[in-house]
Amino acid sequence: MQPKHTLPLNHGTPIPQWSPRLSVGNAKLDEQHITLLELGRDLMRLLETKASTDIQIHGALEDIDRLSRLHDALEESILEANGCPTLSGHKAVHLTARNQLANLLADVSHGVVDKAALSGLVADWMAHHISENDLPVKDYLKSVPRARAAG
Ligand SMILES: [Fe+2]
Ligand SMILES: [Fe+2]
Repeated sequence: MQPKHTLPLNHGTPIPQWSPRLSVGNAKLDEQHITLLELGRDLMRLLETKASTDIQIHGALEDIDRLSRLHDALEESILEANGCPTLSGHKAVHLTARNQLANLLADVSHGVVDKAALSGLVADWMAHHISENDLPVKDYLKSVPRARAAG
């Protein structure tokens, strides 16, 4: 009888725990980051459980996909309103990640699940998303004052 938790996936890149050190100074964006990291951990648990089904994995990926779309759009609108000079680069990084996620979702719906590759990609993305992409533009992620947002 095989134990159910035997896949030693992704020991190199753990999903980071959120801490105030990762705050971008915007409560809504911090809340979304915290939830994204939690969803990432949910997915990792599924991937490490041999009994998990493709449907469960697809559902977990869809949750990440849905929230990351909302999150990216909100971040981009705030960066734009605050005049962030690296907005186009930031958008490009978001787009690349969303495309990767869309490809993963398509693979899973076709029954092609490379659990090691999937966990590596998602963990890698989660490990870098906040610290390397968002924290450097923290000054432009603060809530936009109403008057300025209205133009
Ligand atoms: Fe973010
Ligand atoms: Fe971002």
